[in-house]
Amino acid sequence: MNASNNHIRIFDTSLRDGEQSPGFTMSGAQKIAFAHALAELGVDVIEAGFPCSSPADFHSVHSIARAVRDTTIAALARCHPGDIDACARALDGAAAPRIHVFISTSPLHRQFKLNMTREQVIEHARMGITLARKHVDDVEFSAEDAFRTEPDFLVEVFNAAVAAGATTLNVPDTVGYATPDEIRALFRHLRAHVQGADDVVFSAHCHNDLGLAVANSLAAIEGGARQVECTINGIGERAGNAALEELVMALKVRGGWYNADTGIHTQKLLDTSRLLSRITGIQVQRNKAIVGLNAFAHESGIHQHGMLKNRDTYEIMRPQDIGWPDSQLVLGRHSGRAAMANRLRALGHVLDDARLDQVIAAAKTLTHTQHVVGDADLLRLVAGDHGDSGWRIAAMSLIDEGQHTRAHVELSDPDNRRVKQDARGDGPIAALFAALARATGVDFELESYEVHSMGIGRDARGEANLSTRIGGDTYSGQGTSRDVLEASAIAWLDVANRVLRSHAMQRVAAFA
Ligand code: KIV
Ligand code: ZN
Repeated sequence: MNASNNHIRIFDTSLRDGEQSPGFTMSGAQKIAFAHALAELGVDVIEAGFPCSSPADFHSVHSIARAVRDTTIAALARCHPGDIDACARALDGAAAPRIHVFISTSPLHRQFKLNMTREQVIEHARMGITLARKHVDDVEFSAEDAFRTEPDFLVEVFNAAVAAGATTLNVPDTVGYATPDEIRALFRHLRAHVQGADDVVFSAHCHNDLGLAVANSLAAIEGGARQVECTINGIGERAGNAALEELVMALKVRGGWYNADTGIHTQKLLDTSRLLSRITGIQVQRNKAIVGLNAFAHESGIHQHGMLKNRDTYEIMRPQDIGWPDSQLVLGRHSGRAAMANRLRALGHVLDDARLDQVIAAAKTLTHTQHVVGDADLLRLVAGDHGDSGWRIAAMSLIDEGQHTRAHVELSDPDNRRVKQDARGDGPIAALFAALARATGVDFELESYEVHSMGIGRDARGEANLSTRIGGDTYSGQGTSRDVLEASAIAWLDVANRVLRSHAMQRVAAFA
């Protein structure tokens, strides 16, 4: 165990630092499912929770410790006998248990949080580690708010921690205040001055308050850290922790610079990120590095042209290494001729210049009302259907019937005839979509459904986006309105119209 070893241990704290932040609470069963996913991803340590914080946390740490056998399972404790005892009981039966004890060391925390002197802090740390070592061999010690602690005092605390039996020394930037140069220098200082530094693992735990968590963790590695604490999608207190997927891919893509590697199976990163989003109901932003929808999507004509010639022009990693099927050349307002022609060719249509110009012009017109031109749209345009036909909403109303909601819809069909239907559902959306399905005769399971508000005050509008997958094809629809339910109905009909058109296209193709 020393810094010349280039393996970086990945300590995932999504289930502790991540789960304790607002909006990310998970049930016990969800935590177990996610812990299995983390183990399959190849993390070295899963911090499963803080057992003394609640009986539910205790039980989930206990269940994870028994269910997940190939990964070290850590549990968090203050330097209190009760906390450490709860960790030991929760970890009972674990294949590789770790107790993670912490105490604040910075002057601010000593004065306002702990009301302790430096000596008392060291004494508590020594007591906590000694007690934890009675239960397990693997003890991590964290100096909370380490980055704002006097460096010489931090050395003193860590000296006491090593002497008491800590095997990992964690240096949290608890409030995300550090800069990369400073944190690199701090790790170098600690590695040079802590007695027994070569026999322990130094660990970085960076928060993202200034958006520097990943950069700081990488700098800590340059300074000698051999464990990084991070979370999937960067969830965690306030602005979050360092994002595991970003750290791991930085180490992989820039391996020549960092000369360090991890045991992460990177092809599982996307699935793990999506599992967390499904569990918590919180999606990552579209332009999130590595796992955001735009991470490997290109819309501008110049970029698409470059990608078609050589993908290295605009991509520094292979999307498949993360679990994406491929890069995406998104056809939209900014796309160029080369990408449209390329997509049409992939769909089996080699058009002469004049016809290609017509289809491109029609596709650009379509982008005035929708963000993206999908395959079904292109096929329709090639067939000369310009998309102004289809089901449209004429009127709708919802009645709350206590336990259920009843939705009435009046639609205009592709031949401009009126169709009325109603249906009941558990709530307004279920009732509305059931009525639309009855009226149109189209039914599908939603793969995603999101509503966002756009603008504020009197100009505010709701935008609904939904998608479904049928036979390997994704159909997405969008609707906007002042009323989010109406926006949802428009988006639902947008999908239904695309499904109907593509089925009509397939029938035409089958007879051709
Ligand atoms: O941010 C922090 O300091 C922590 C410690 C408990 C490790 O999460
Ligand atoms: Zn933290």
